[in-house]
Amino acid sequence: MEQTFVMVKPDGVQRGLTGEILTRFEKKGFTIAAAKMMMITEELAGTHYGEHKGKPFYEGLVDFITSGPVFAVVLEGENCISEARKMMGKTNPAEASPGTIRGDFGLSVSKNLVHGSDSAESAEREISLFFNDAEILNYSKTV
Ligand code: CMP
Repeated sequence: MEQTFVMVKPDGVQRGLTGEILTRFEKKGFTIAAAKMMMITEELAGTHYGEHKGKPFYEGLVDFITSGPVFAVVLEGENCISEARKMMGKTNPAEASPGTIRGDFGLSVSKNLVHGSDSAESAEREISLFFNDAEILNYSKTV
């Protein structure tokens, strides 16, 4: 089953939107395979956002993502990489459709509430950056 990495960013956690965001994914039918609240170190931020190094917003991005706790999640389900991205909406909340997480709750491109892997390769890389194998739980739905 496909897995993706999703993270409620510091603005989402501080605005009390963690539950709302996770509820949307759960109601869609995705399973939470792993979850933890954590602080991101500068080193982890540099690795996670390595592809953006050199871009004008990079320093601000690292400052922001290390500024407070994030809620990191591994989601599992059919087509969850692309479906979770659809549910988040466009990176810039000003362009995100109503009904998406960023369209409903976001205002700023740098504080856009949530991150989700953009491809199967990113998902694999990001999941292994944030979680070890023992933290990712395999369970079947029995209820
Ligand atoms: P995310 O999906 O976490 O991946 C990179 C992040 O860079 C993106 O979401 C935005 O929050 C952030 N960012 C900040 N400024 C910009 C910008 N001008 N263009 C694109 N992304 C930006």
